[in-house]
Amino acid sequence: MRFDIITIFPRMFDSIFSAGVVKKAVEKGIIEIKIHDLRDFTTDKHRQVDDRPYGGLEGMVLKPEPIFRAVEEIRQPVESLTCLLSPQGKTFNSALAEKLAGYQQVILICGRYEGVDERVIEHLVDEEISIGDYVLTGGELAAAVVVDAVSRFVPGVVGKEESVRHDSFTEGLLDFPQYTRPRDFRGYRVPSVLFSGDHKKIARWRLKKALEKTLVRRPDLLKTRKLSSEEEELLIEIQKERKES
Ligand code: ADE
Repeated sequence: MRFDIITIFPRMFDSIFSAGVVKKAVEKGIIEIKIHDLRDFTTDKHRQVDDRPYGGLEGMVLKPEPIFRAVEEIRQPVESLTCLLSPQGKTFNSALAEKLAGYQQVILICGRYEGVDERVIEHLVDEEISIGDYVLTGGELAAAVVVDAVSRFVPGVVGKEESVRHDSFTEGLLDFPQYTRPRDFRGYRVPSVLFSGDHKKIARWRLKKALEKTLVRRPDLLKTRKLSSEEEELLIEIQKERKES
């Protein structure tokens, strides 16, 4: 799978993909990440990528011509999706990451300044994406987040594909707590059930903890999830215990 990032700050990506799982995936040839400087697609002497907004207002707007030229040059004759990172977009989540991983090429346009000429959004972009309800100074960090999260769904990127499927959000619950050695750290002990050797009991404890954390922190996730009878049972138990404490 190939990612193409169009930006006016290509240097911002120097370090972010130079370590970790994404770097390994690039080295293995599973994914390819190409960074393009939007200014390379201008035709004027000043390499101008922005201009003042019609109708007057503060700030500058990214011009349509360099962006159209960049995408038209970069887009390959494969299954390709063009995305714009902006706070106005659809909120990015695990389902959208998995959808993007199904394309052979994903082009990510990093928005900047006060916005992007609307004709880019109307006539060039397939998907406008926001990574959350806050405003960044530009789409670069958002593009890096998207590349990272989408890459995890590309077969071979994450060691065991199992571990993607069991993650929070892939299964619709937050993660259960994890512990490693030592058993006793400054008097803080690892829950004894984890040493019981009873795998059924451990699985039920983990599910209960995951449900409890989800109930407290993200009750919205439980509303959209179809609960199994074991989960229903555990939730009743959790609610009873919470009432008592
Ligand atoms: N650009 C500025 N803020 C953003 C956000 N929250 N998501 C994606 N792109 C952005």
